[in-house]
Amino acid sequence: MRSRTFGPTGRSVGEIGFGAWAIGAAWGAVDDNDSVAALHAALDAGLDFIDTADVYGDGHSERLIARVLKERGGERPFVATKAGRRLPQQTVAGYSAENLEGWIDRSLRNLEVDVLDLLQLHCPPTDAYYHPEVFERMERLVERGKIRHYGVSVERVEEALKAIEYPGVASVQIIYNMFRLRPAELFFREARRRNVAVIVRVPLASGLLSGKFTRDTRFAADDHRQFNRHGEAFDVGETFSGVPYEVGLSNSGKAACAGARGRDPSPAGAALDPDGRSGDRSHPGRAHSGTGAGQCRRGRAAGTAAGDDGRGRPAVRPWDIRPYVHQRW
Ligand SMILES: NC(=O)c1ccc[n+]([C@@H]2O[C@H](COP(=O)([O-])OP(=O)(O)OC[C@H]3O[C@@H](n4cnc5c(N)ncnc54)[C@H](OP(=O)(O)O)[C@@H]3O)[C@@H](O)[C@H]2O)c1
Repeated sequence: MRSRTFGPTGRSVGEIGFGAWAIGAAWGAVDDNDSVAALHAALDAGLDFIDTADVYGDGHSERLIARVLKERGGERPFVATKAGRRLPQQTVAGYSAENLEGWIDRSLRNLEVDVLDLLQLHCPPTDAYYHPEVFERMERLVERGKIRHYGVSVERVEEALKAIEYPGVASVQIIYNMFRLRPAELFFREARRRNVAVIVRVPLASGLLSGKFTRDTRFAADDHRQFNRHGEAFDVGETFSGVPYEVGLSNSGKAACAGARGRDPSPAGAALDPDGRSGDRSHPGRAHSGTGAGQCRRGRAAGTAAGDDGRGRPAVRPWDIRPYVHQRW
């Protein structure tokens, strides 16, 4: 696996990371033994970047990571976590110095560390990006040694562009996949220009781009692919990338075929250009990609399903998808 320097941190991390949402909650029944095995498998395979959050299973994801890293000892991977979603309601006032410190202290305890590698504001309201005092509070937390670096996880490209105007922002996490291509139009270029790391999330549109789902696939009531399909619990863009399930299904079959034949073993997203064609595997703006947990356990490289239809044509028809997503995120 290739590595890249993670923005201004100077730390070199692999281009594929372990997305630790699913080992926390919101993806149906997940067995802790499977989660621990998946984490070990990922780390055995050389992954050295983990993305989690304080709300993934109300800290369960962070605590499982701590457990596995303690079991293993040795060099620690880079662990990125997030804060802000413990607020009952998303308001800028909620991102107070007191709240931020309380959330961070809790993550320090969950992860059993003295300092966090990276703390991302977890999809704060758009207005937060227009309040410099929120970012100044993060600076103070760096100075006090609670966090090494801070970044943001955003919903929208406009938020990403605003966030990187703050010189202390080390990273931006954003959705980028064959359905959600807009970050490649301007944001990646700007992030590169400012040496900001990019964490690409939801590379397989919650699995929809893997081609393994059908009209008959059913998800458990405690799986966000059931309970948040229309944005009932959080931003609908986080579930199937905001693409209606049936529309996504009819745009993912060929992609699955291409992946199954192993035509394009690159991570979803890495092999895209802004028209949705496969090709460029070294997108300049992309630091690396977080992906779901289960595939590590099964020994499959994450995101192998992206590609063409076997004849060099795009597997996803961007003009079908664009009206659902482009103006929203
Ligand atoms: N707001 C935020 O900051 C935010 C929001 C969402 C996600 N994230 C981060 O991004 C990470 C990844 O996003 P995500 O989990 O939502 O989406 P994802 O990686 O797009 O989708 C995960 C799904 O893809 C399937 N999958 C992965 N690799 C596959 C392969 N090679 N073949 C077939 N299926 C495959 C998984 O299947 P199995 O279930 O069978 O393993 C799972 O159902 C999260 O864990 C989290 O760290 C952050």
